[in-house]
Amino acid sequence: MTTGTAVLTNIGQLVTNDPERDGLLGLVESGAVIIEEGLVAWVGEESDLPPAPGGAASIDCHGNAVVPGFVDAHTHLAFAGDRADEFGRRLRGESYEEIMAAGGGIQSTVAATRSASVSELTGTTMARLRRMSRTGTTTVEVKSGYGLDLHNEKRLLAVAGAAGAAVPIDVVPTFLGAHTVSPEFAGDADGYIDNVIEEMLPACSPLARFCDVFCDLGVFSVEQARRVLEAGRMHGLEPRLHANQLAHSGGARLAAEMGAVSADHLDHLHDEDITALHDAGTVAVLLPGVSLSLRLPQARGIDLWEAGVTVALATDCNPGTSNIESMPFVIGIACLEMGLSPEQAVWSATRGGALALGLRDRGALVPGMLGDVAILAHPSYVHLAYRPDAPAVAWVLKRGRPTVADLV
Ligand code: NIG
Ligand code: FE
Repeated sequence: MTTGTAVLTNIGQLVTNDPERDGLLGLVESGAVIIEEGLVAWVGEESDLPPAPGGAASIDCHGNAVVPGFVDAHTHLAFAGDRADEFGRRLRGESYEEIMAAGGGIQSTVAATRSASVSELTGTTMARLRRMSRTGTTTVEVKSGYGLDLHNEKRLLAVAGAAGAAVPIDVVPTFLGAHTVSPEFAGDADGYIDNVIEEMLPACSPLARFCDVFCDLGVFSVEQARRVLEAGRMHGLEPRLHANQLAHSGGARLAAEMGAVSADHLDHLHDEDITALHDAGTVAVLLPGVSLSLRLPQARGIDLWEAGVTVALATDCNPGTSNIESMPFVIGIACLEMGLSPEQAVWSATRGGALALGLRDRGALVPGMLGDVAILAHPSYVHLAYRPDAPAVAWVLKRGRPTVADLV
């Protein structure tokens, strides 16, 4: 990916996430930033700004707030079709589980995705990535999981890679072959898990960085998830897990026990699960757009924060439970519905997301880190929750290069 050199001045409020500075967000008032060949080279008060490097683009931020580019650590972006009909059914009283048990849910997206061409899938995935880039996301995790056989899972990981290469956003691919039992193995979850381990993983692992499983009541058990994640590790994929979304189903404990990079969803948590995640150093990826879309209570975000667990926020963008692409919108929900402070929400959407992906080179504006920046269309990061419906981002830099200009 090409890089850029830029000097950002006239920043109203600069969020650095630098632990060496004050407060959770390491704020700098009247700040400036220099990015040289894609990496942050200098951060400080504008009155101390050193001379600009040769060929630098000058960017006047007009008193707006500047934050590290958002890191969306959990999405299912590569899919075809939509499920607006199911969404309507849910609003009329059916539950997600009832629709899933009746053959809808993930299975209906699998059917639509299998029958879409590679160019259709690449086009819709690129369009989603472009819209995400415009709302300040500079890194996004993309899971497979709507293919459920070797050919289709591989195809989705290839689509994620191709779409990511065409948009100024880093895509981190995750193999989620164990998203649900495929139609070919209906009624034989163990047989399907064998197939995931013996056939899909060896072929898909070169295209992915992480291995994920939907471990939940009515989907895959803790034992089945453990088998897949252990096999994933043998193929070089670090584990992460859909855990405790539908019920208190043991996924969070498994994630902690295996030292998974993250445990995601976590809508049903006991205190002991929180302690286990903390002790294991597993990042809790919270997805408030899912609870909003399903009209269910939010996860225990504040308790996780207070227990010292590293918390990340993500969109979970998918056609079933969270058709949401914007991280600023997720920050708004996390504050308004989950009760996180604006500081916790912004940190979780940037540095927290980076740590959930094991990426220590981003999510903070500190010399040496990636020059991934969102220049907000607001004087303060608090406005992301205070004005949740307003256009949130004015400009985005990916590795120091402007990706969108004058959006608002
Ligand atoms: O993260 N929980 C499992 N997977 C998705 C939903 C997928 C779907 O409904 O299509 C999720 O919520
Ligand atoms: Fe998910």
